[in-house]
Amino acid sequence: MRHPSYRLFVLFALLTACDADFYSATFRLENLAKIEQQMVESARRYIQQGGQVPWTLQRLCESMSHPGYSDPVRMVHSPVGAYLLLKRFHHTWAHIMEELPNPLDVLGQDDLAHVFPTPADLEGSALALLRLQGVYNLDLPSIAEGGVVVNCEKSQTSTDNSLEQCEPANLSRLTGQPPPLPLEVSDVFYIGSVAYKRREFYYAAIWYNLTLNLMTQRSPSEGDPGLLQVLEALGDSYSELEKYQQASAFYKRALDQGDNDHSQRLESKAEDVRNKADKHGPTLVRPRSIYNNYEELCRAGVLQRERATVETTTLTCTLVRPSALFYISPLKMEVLREKEPRVALYYDVITDGEAGVMRQLGFSKFERSTVLPSPGETVVSDTRVSETGWVPDTEDLVVAKLSRMVAHITGLNTTFPTGDNFQVLNYGLGGQYEPHYDHLKEEVSRTLMAANRILTFLFYLSEVEAGGATVFTEANIAVPVVKNSAVLFENTNKALVRSRASVHAGCPVLIGSKWVANKWIHEIGNELQRPCGLTQEE
Ligand SMILES: *[C@@H]1O[C@H](CO)[C@@H](O)[C@H](O)[C@H]1NC(C)=O
Ligand SMILES: *[C@@H]1O[C@H](CO)[C@@H](O)[C@H](O)[C@H]1NC(C)=O
Ligand SMILES: *[C@@H]1O[C@H](CO)[C@@H](O)[C@H](O)[C@H]1NC(C)=O
Repeated sequence: MRHPSYRLFVLFALLTACDADFYSATFRLENLAKIEQQMVESARRYIQQGGQVPWTLQRLCESMSHPGYSDPVRMVHSPVGAYLLLKRFHHTWAHIMEELPNPLDVLGQDDLAHVFPTPADLEGSALALLRLQGVYNLDLPSIAEGGVVVNCEKSQTSTDNSLEQCEPANLSRLTGQPPPLPLEVSDVFYIGSVAYKRREFYYAAIWYNLTLNLMTQRSPSEGDPGLLQVLEALGDSYSELEKYQQASAFYKRALDQGDNDHSQRLESKAEDVRNKADKHGPTLVRPRSIYNNYEELCRAGVLQRERATVETTTLTCTLVRPSALFYISPLKMEVLREKEPRVALYYDVITDGEAGVMRQLGFSKFERSTVLPSPGETVVSDTRVSETGWVPDTEDLVVAKLSRMVAHITGLNTTFPTGDNFQVLNYGLGGQYEPHYDHLKEEVSRTLMAANRILTFLFYLSEVEAGGATVFTEANIAVPVVKNSAVLFENTNKALVRSRASVHAGCPVLIGSKWVANKWIHEIGNELQRPCGLTQEE
């Protein structure tokens, strides 16, 4: 008979073969959550039939009758729920598998081979929480209780006092999320340590501070960090932030724990900060995004139900017939910006069924999204957490129909290679795409295959509960995710000079799963459809 750990080894080996991270696309987390539910049901049946299981598994089955676990898909739509899922697999389930002599009999055979997330997944989900906290200014104590509360904040530039009275938005309540699943003290400490490792010392300090608070409020539990460990971590974070007075106080409290094994190291750290002067005073200041307006716009577009643009007065919604195709049923179009770049939102341009087909076709070709640092080179990056599949117009009648519709709306040729294949994306946990241009850099030499993208047509293929807006950081526009709609924007003007104001970003998804399909249209092949302007400015 084979040793049980042999099976475990096989599971892990299969996992490494599948190189996609769970956190890089929300649909993977949804699948993982469904598998977990099946495993729990299978274990419960096994126990009911008189089977013996380790008490770790028994306790897990009991705890998972909490209503927060009842809907696995919605559970992972919340960033805390998704983190906790990955942690359960990483710690609890891995532990149970080691203890179970016959894991496949107890938990069911199916799907187990793909199940185990890697340490990178757990870290990725912790980073996602930190990113969401930063971009949306989430209330930290609420995160620890499993909720999502967007704090109000007076904009740095605004002199408008009305913002000061605004209420924090409790998204857990507004989106009807299942009851929250709180983080444990060890989770809060772990997330602080991920922030520290990524040199996000402000976030490290506030998560470690919360760890300390929770340790005094909650009764101790297995896996809690030691007090000395937390105090030292706080000292290190404050020291990195050049708040030496407070660092010194934390080291002193750590020394007061009277643990001789660590006193030498702590003394030397305390000595190091003792006579240094604090930089920029004692208060901690939340670091801001380097991108102009990015966070403000993402927050403005946070709830898709709240139609959000910063300059609402310029809005015009009209019925349009861009070609004879739309004679009977005109399109509902909202112009968000007239030109340089033109940005427009088209409502109800794709049906639920067509969106489903696009998601399915994209999914069958998924890879982790890359960014293009320079021509011919692609890298996987934290600035772009999503998975991508390229779908040619010829793949399916639905794709051909959508491509033709884009051609009619824009008056441009969308056929490959003049138009790119559709790029279908599912964003991951905290998935975002930081501000970028869709057109190529000026210095890149252009060929038919790598011609400049003059126009982007972006279909929203899903609804999200909160977050995920497309924002134009120079043009000051937030376009929320509206299911079955599409955003059109120009990347260059008629003279093919790139529009500075076309710089845009996909805000991180706060709650939900965001799917989009992009159609990019190139300059070469469209010379007759879109004649050049006579001047550079036109
Ligand atoms: C937000 O709403 C949830 C669910 O209704 C509730 O449990 C939680 O206490 C609220 N949080 C805050 C900070 O109001
Ligand atoms: C640390 O926690 C205390 C609550 O005990 C809070 O008042 C304080 O603002 C927190 N400090 C930081 C920097 O988060
Ligand atoms: C559209 O572009 C494709 C590919 O570049 C080309 O083969 C086709 O002839 C073009 N169609 C028109 C109507 O110009």
